Amino acid sequence: MAEENYIKITESMYSLQHFTIPKHYEEAVESVILPHGLIMNRIERMARDIHECFNDESLKILCILKGGYQFCNDLTHYIKALNRGSGKSIQLGIDFLRVKSYKNDQSSGEVNIIGGDDLTHLKDKNVLIVEDIVDTGRTMERLLKTLEKYQPKSVKVAALLIKDHNRGTGYKPDYIGFQVPDKFIVGYALDYNEFYRDLNHICVISESGKKKYSIS
Ligand code: HPA
Ligand code: MG
Repeated sequence: MAEENYIKITESMYSLQHFTIPKHYEEAVESVILPHGLIMNRIERMARDIHECFNDESLKILCILKGGYQFCNDLTHYIKALNRGSGKSIQLGIDFLRVKSYKNDQSSGEVNIIGGDDLTHLKDKNVLIVEDIVDTGRTMERLLKTLEKYQPKSVKVAALLIKDHNRGTGYKPDYIGFQVPDKFIVGYALDYNEFYRDLNHICVISESGKKKYSIS
């Protein structure tokens, strides 16, 4: 049987008491789903997989803000290390796009692409979209459609996380870190109404956290 090329997390198995959690989030998270060290180890391997897929060409990284900033930073860190430590080097360019679709723990159904640079220089380039989480796939499908008009040579997507439900479009990124259960998760730059980006593990939000940081 072919093994999936990502890690499937089926339950939230780590108790908060086994890790360090900032005091301001102790009551606001339920459990740790992905400890920071495991996230880093997996990203190191994703960087190798990506590095192997390209020859000595340039690669335009498109970081999807805000949630993707941490993953993008760590992923490029490891790709740069491979550029120094192996015979092959891939020149990286980095651009940023801001996308927003969530209010509280619900997708608003519409995807807002807010700002970002002029992307006309992506024409004939290899592009790697770097995103924290692909949930229903709608944001990514819309984004891929938007990028088509800049006529890149190729477009690949690296997502740290996908959800295990099938409420979505069926879209699967090219590179995936982990599949996680269908729970609202926060930390490692994933937010709930802009909170929790400063938590380094990925955690399941608690009911009291949802209440404390909800907006109307
Ligand atoms: N957490 C944070 N942001 C998200 C999630 C989630 O579970 N799903 C989609 N965007
Ligand atoms: Mg995101």
